[in-house]
Amino acid sequence: MDEELPARLRAVPVLAGPLPSFDPDGADPSPGRQFARWLDEALDDGVPEPHVMTLGTADRDGRPSARVLMLRGLGADAGTFVFASDAGSHKGHDLAANPYAVLSWYWPLQGRQIRAAGAVEVLGADAAREDFLRRREASRIAGFTGRMSAPLADPGTYDAERRRAADVVAADPRAVPAGHTVYRLRADEMEFFQGSQGASHVRLHYVRQGGEWRRGLLWP
Ligand SMILES: Cc1cc2nc3c(=O)[nH]c(=O)nc-3n(C[C@H](O)[C@H](O)[C@H](O)COP(=O)(O)O)c2cc1C
Repeated sequence: MDEELPARLRAVPVLAGPLPSFDPDGADPSPGRQFARWLDEALDDGVPEPHVMTLGTADRDGRPSARVLMLRGLGADAGTFVFASDAGSHKGHDLAANPYAVLSWYWPLQGRQIRAAGAVEVLGADAAREDFLRRREASRIAGFTGRMSAPLADPGTYDAERRRAADVVAADPRAVPAGHTVYRLRADEMEFFQGSQGASHVRLHYVRQGGEWRRGLLWP
């Protein structure tokens, strides 16, 4: 074990600031709109990759897994989040067996963390096609390369498969892989965490009850 590691980790500043303040009384009654507001501020402040988020899923036995994905957009309903992946991937299998998930974002520049949990639905073939065909060529070739999350025997197999995928895309630039899937998470719970340098963090929690959102503070 690296005995210096704990000291090296302690030396890295966290929530170093300057950080924005967050008045929960001024928060939007809809957490979807509150998310859009914070995302706007993240884009304006130059937060790196604010649309990269962690997706947590669990299989039918409750074994969790997580990975980062891109937020593709916000659904028309407030509190819905759209992402895309391969239905045959690990997460795709998890979501087919257990269609509940959690998304989280951390924007260190602002000391902000957001969490959104809820049911996930699959959008149809039209949404999948539209999402896939908007991508640049390299990303479409990647979408046809191999089988996401399956064991890869060796890098040579990858190169050969990538060449085959490039041929597929060149032959039909409008081709869409069968597994490409757009998912929409409909939050029934969200939390907005504003870190502060003095550790008096603010946590605002929303829960969907019937058609209404209720909100309250959580102890930090
Ligand atoms: C910055 C970044 C963005 C990513 N965006 C996506 C994405 O939008 N969709 C996706 O399926 N995988 C994306 N990935 C890859 C995933 O993190 C993951 O490796 C892959 O989806 C397989 O995950 P799984 O085996 O848990 O299903 C991204 C990776 C990084 C580093």
